[in-house]
Amino acid sequence: MESWFERHQRPLPWRESYDPYHVWVSEVMLQQTRMEVVLRHYPSFLGRFPTLVALAGAEEQEVLAAWSGLGYYRRARMLHAGAREVVERFGGMVPDEVEPLLSIPGIGRYTAGAIASIVYRRRAAVVDGNVARIVARLAAIAEPAGSSRLMRAAWIEAERLAGVSRDPRLFNQGLMEIGALICTPRKPACGRCPVRRHCAAFAAGRTGSLPAPKEKRTARKVVVPLYWIEDGRGRILMRRERGPLMTAMFHLPHGSTELLPGSPLRVTPGDLLGTFRHTITTRNVEFRLHAADLASSVGDNGDYAWIDPAELGRVPHPSYVAKAMTARIASCAGG
Ligand code: ADE
Repeated sequence: MESWFERHQRPLPWRESYDPYHVWVSEVMLQQTRMEVVLRHYPSFLGRFPTLVALAGAEEQEVLAAWSGLGYYRRARMLHAGAREVVERFGGMVPDEVEPLLSIPGIGRYTAGAIASIVYRRRAAVVDGNVARIVARLAAIAEPAGSSRLMRAAWIEAERLAGVSRDPRLFNQGLMEIGALICTPRKPACGRCPVRRHCAAFAAGRTGSLPAPKEKRTARKVVVPLYWIEDGRGRILMRRERGPLMTAMFHLPHGSTELLPGSPLRVTPGDLLGTFRHTITTRNVEFRLHAADLASSVGDNGDYAWIDPAELGRVPHPSYVAKAMTARIASCAGG
C-alpha cells in the first residue's frame, strides 16, 4: 500500500510540505467539496492566509470572503475559531495526537485522525465515505452504504489497519487515493488495485454487492394544517415567505412550524375541507385543509396578499398550494 501510494499518488499542494496547517485546511475543504473545486480555491486561500497565525489574526468576514466558492461556510467559521484556539491554547503549534486535536473547535474524529496520521505519522484511522467503502470490501462488511452501522464497523477496521501499517501517513492516504481512483462505488478497477490480494469482496466476487446498497430512507410522516381564509369577495389569503430557500413564494397560512416558516397569523379553524398527501424531499406530509376565519387582522406589512384563486398562476407558489385548490374545489362539489 505505502509503496503503491508513493508511485501513484496525485500531486496535491499540501503533500509538498505536510505542514500541519496546510493539511488541516485541505481536509476541512475536502469534507464537503470535490477535489477539483478544492484545487481551484486552496492556493488563493493559502495566499491570503499563509500561516495559522495569519488566519487566527484575521477578521471573520475576511475568512468568509476568502472561502467564497467553497460553500458550507460554517466550516470556514470553525476553521477560523480552531486556528485561534491553537494560537491561544497551544502556542500556535497544531497538536500531534488525536485526543488534544479533538478538543479544538471544528475538529472531529475524521480531521483529528487525518492530521495525526498524515502530518505526524501517528497510528490513527481516517474514515470518510470512500475509505468506508474500500474497508467494507477488504473486510467483507455487509452493512448498507452510507449507514452509521457501516461507518462504525469501518472505523474499527481502519483503526486496526492503521495500527499495523508501516507508515500511517502513506497508508491512510493510500486508502483515500484507492477509494477515490480505483475502488469506486460501481465497477471498481480491481485489475489495478494494489490490495486486491487482501480483499475479501474481490475473492468472493462480491465487489458489486459490498457494501450493501443504500437503505431507502422512508419519508417521515408529518401532519400540517392549512387554512383557507376567504375575504368577502372570494379571494384567499396567502403569505409570501422570505427566506433563502423559498424566496417570495406564496404559501397558504399553515399551522406547523416544522416544515415551513410559521405564520404569525391567528386563525379560528373551521370545517375540514379535505386532506391530501404531498412529499417534500424526505417528508411525507398529510395536509389538512380547514376553512378558517381571521382572529386578528393581517396588518399591511406586505407579506400577505389576497389572491383570486383564478389568478393563482400569476404568483409563484409551491405545488402543494395547487393541490389545496383542487381539494377546495372537490369540497365545494361535494356539498
Ligand atoms: N480526500 C480527503 N482527504 C484526502 C486526502 N488526504 N487524500 C486524498 N483524498 C482525500
